[in-house]
Amino acid sequence: MSQLKPLSSHLDSIPSTPGKFKMDKSPYIHRLRYHFSLAKLSFWCFLFLSLILIFFYRAAPPNPNSASQSSSSSDPSRRSLQTPTWGGPNWEKRVRSSARIRSRNGICVLVTGAAGFVGTHVSAALKRRGDGVLGMDNFNNYYDPTLKRARQALLERTGVFVVEGDINDSVLLKKLFDVVAFSHVMHLAAQAGVRYAMENPTSYVHSNIAGLVSVLEVCKSANPQPAIVWASSSSVYGLNSKVPFSEKDRTDQPASLYAATKKAGEEIAHTYNHIYGLSITGLRFFTVYGPWGRPDMAYFFFTRDILKGKSIPIFEAPNHGTVARDFTYIDDIVKGCLASLDTAEKSTGSGGKKKGPAQLRVFNLGNTSPVPVTKLVNILEKLLKVKANKVMLKMPRNGDVQFTHANITLAQSELGYKPATDLQTGLKKFVRWYLSYYSGSGKKSSS
Ligand SMILES: NC(=O)c1ccc[n+]([C@@H]2O[C@H](COP(=O)([O-])OP(=O)(O)OC[C@H]3O[C@@H](n4cnc5c(N)ncnc54)[C@H](O)[C@@H]3O)[C@@H](O)[C@H]2O)c1
Ligand SMILES: *[C@@H]1O[C@H](CO)[C@@H](O)[C@H](O)[C@H]1NC(C)=O
Ligand SMILES: *[C@@H]1O[C@H](CO)[C@@H](O)[C@H](O)[C@H]1NC(C)=O
Repeated sequence: MSQLKPLSSHLDSIPSTPGKFKMDKSPYIHRLRYHFSLAKLSFWCFLFLSLILIFFYRAAPPNPNSASQSSSSSDPSRRSLQTPTWGGPNWEKRVRSSARIRSRNGICVLVTGAAGFVGTHVSAALKRRGDGVLGMDNFNNYYDPTLKRARQALLERTGVFVVEGDINDSVLLKKLFDVVAFSHVMHLAAQAGVRYAMENPTSYVHSNIAGLVSVLEVCKSANPQPAIVWASSSSVYGLNSKVPFSEKDRTDQPASLYAATKKAGEEIAHTYNHIYGLSITGLRFFTVYGPWGRPDMAYFFFTRDILKGKSIPIFEAPNHGTVARDFTYIDDIVKGCLASLDTAEKSTGSGGKKKGPAQLRVFNLGNTSPVPVTKLVNILEKLLKVKANKVMLKMPRNGDVQFTHANITLAQSELGYKPATDLQTGLKKFVRWYLSYYSGSGKKSSS
């Protein structure tokens, strides 16, 4: 715009400064030349402005909103080339609006891993009650990021903004706490999966150890300190063979690096509670499944492979022992998460100083009825009306345990937790979602 001003004032001044123009030609010719040069000038100005506009348009950091909707996130190399996707007044406005509490006695929650399976359901449920919710996720490509983007789009429609960023980025976390005084943090971001730990061990250290510490560091320094609820895992029971698993049972024999990082997380939680007075609740989830679930989990890829006619591997424990899981439906897990947030006491410290003892809890969130994997496949065959091509294999010793079974007495009494969905009912809902999400019209058709 500033280019226009000198130009117009120059034009204005023409009649009063005739000396600038040779007057030896007739006024008519002069006028012609004047119009001609005016047109030429306008043309170059137009070109110049266009170039400037094009330059700014291409150089401007992408609006987090439009980037999240349109960028082809399936290409991680492209993401790393982009300028940071957070910051700016518009971004801050969206953060504030998403975190605004809309009901009496509502809470204000930062949900990490919000574009994940559990994170999406928990964020949506909190928003529905009128709580303030801000999501955060790094949209990594451990599994198909288009599914994470679709979950993000679902959350956007309910009014939840998911900030794109890494929990190990303490500058970003601090910025979020500067903008919003969160009363609670629901920490679900993690590197999940048991067998992948042998392929990419450092991703577990990055997210589940360094990332957790970075979250707790920011929480401990915040004023007021938020109460924290975070996802541990039933895998901490490891080689423990006493069933059902109770919170008091030993958890010092992890069978995978994933389990070891979750166990480490529980110890780190103890430290931050002890030193800084942070109120912390750890939830040991037992094999969560349901709509919008994780493609790396058996129920999910069995469904995909049964429909494709591909063979599915079924693991068998030594001596033909059954492999079984205490499958827990997502809605039950969400209820357990919300009850944990609602019963969490306030942290007692402030600005990094402890003022008194604070709450420290661990709960099993399971379903209390282990189902053999063969039974899972039978249910899927009936729901999909396709016979599975099963291949029995010896269970490799690469992280999986043979059996999980939760004792949920503690969660029942402290949280009022009471799982209400059996595997048959829950899988029916999953299959309905799966078929609609992956139906011919493409991935966007599901909602
Ligand atoms: N689903 C289960 O059966 C199960 C069982 C036990 C424990 N858990 C735990 O529950 C939590 C949620 O699991 P889920 O099934 O929703 O997994 P998920 O992978 O779908 O969700 C985790 C989300 O966190 C994000 N994330 C990972 N590392 C991050 C980082 N460094 N910074 C920012 N975001 C990051 C991922 O992009 C993903 O969207 C995890 O902590 C997981 O370990 C899940
Ligand atoms: C986490 O981030 C810090 C910088 O904030 C970096 O030094 C460290 O290497 C990161 N840790 C991991 C495990 O990625
Ligand atoms: C379940 O755990 C509770 C303690 O939380 C314990 O009292 C009870 O005996 C356990 N039940 C079984 C069947 O192990």
